Amino acid sequence: MKETIKVTITGAAGHIGYALAFRVASGEMFGPDQPVILRLLEIPQALSSLKGVGMELGDCALPLLHDIVLTDDPAIGFRDTDYALLIGARPRSKGMERKDLIVENAKIFAAQGRSINDNASGDVRVLVVGNPANTNALIASANAPDLSASQFTAMTRLDHNRAMGQLAIKTNSLVADITRVTIWGNHSMTQYPDIGSCFIGDKPAYELVTRDWVIDHMIPRIQRRGAEIIEARGLSSAASAADAVVSHIHDWALGTRDGDWVSMSVMSDGSYGIDEGVFFSMPVTCKNGEYEIVQGLEMDSLSIARLKASEKELLAERSIVEDLLPKN
Ligand code: NAD
Ligand code: LMR
Repeated sequence: MKETIKVTITGAAGHIGYALAFRVASGEMFGPDQPVILRLLEIPQALSSLKGVGMELGDCALPLLHDIVLTDDPAIGFRDTDYALLIGARPRSKGMERKDLIVENAKIFAAQGRSINDNASGDVRVLVVGNPANTNALIASANAPDLSASQFTAMTRLDHNRAMGQLAIKTNSLVADITRVTIWGNHSMTQYPDIGSCFIGDKPAYELVTRDWVIDHMIPRIQRRGAEIIEARGLSSAASAADAVVSHIHDWALGTRDGDWVSMSVMSDGSYGIDEGVFFSMPVTCKNGEYEIVQGLEMDSLSIARLKASEKELLAERSIVEDLLPKN
């Protein structure tokens, strides 16, 4: 039997947390032979509900779930953890822009960054889902001076999967045949879903769809999909977000498919001319628990303008939270 992996889920009694915990515990994230310990972290007001989640997890009698810790104490929630999935935050409600959440949620991620720094495994991998995810990842990472920024990521895998789903429907093809989709930038309306390098089977995607469809339909659809779901459900996406968390961590830990890449928001290293002080969604390949930004993709002037627009938004978000970013 392999050594257990410790996984912390914050906001585990919330909608995404509830959809996620069972999938991690059943082996979908790390594979069918990998036991896990779940550390579920909530705020005191949600502890009763969290207790119910713990009871249900126990009732599943999942062979890979070796222990469950339920807590409202970050020091216990993050103790020795290998993976910290930072979901707990206030979600956007109808009519609210993600930016409105910045100030409200920023303090949570500063405190959690500090606690991860002090309590988690030195090799911890962190995924920030709570919005605004890119800027929250920057805050968490900046407050964890003993860890590398490359141990922190923010989630744009849901946007990536949404783009693949829309392409599959439009071209009547299988998702499994679609490769090399990229989401660039912020997990927001300024993101740039890009299929310039995408293949469907052995054909470039642009042989199967028109540029007009991509510009007038696909890109705005993906950019607004979060709001479209909120409008339809009256609630933010949850099951699809949990699914994207599973895929993001699965691929980071176990590797991406040969010949393909995924989108992850990572600390910019200056690739594609993006400012080094922001978390920016990029195409990445993963191997042995490390990601690498795909280099050398050709970008036309319209694509570069879209990247710059998203960078500008992220720099503006960063300036709002400047006082929560300690200068190391
Ligand atoms: P929810 O309100 O259902 O659940 C959030 C949970 O977090 C609640 O149970 C709450 O008690 C808990 N929480 C709040 N502050 C906490 C803290 N400091 N520590 C621990 N737990 C805390 O919300 P949800 O639908 O699960 O969404 C969670 C977040 O994920 C939101 O910010 C939402 O906007 C974001 N989201 C991101 C993506 C993405 O693709 N990046 C997709 C969907 C949703
Ligand atoms: C989503 O993309 O579904 C979420 O981030 C919801 C939102 O606030 O846009």
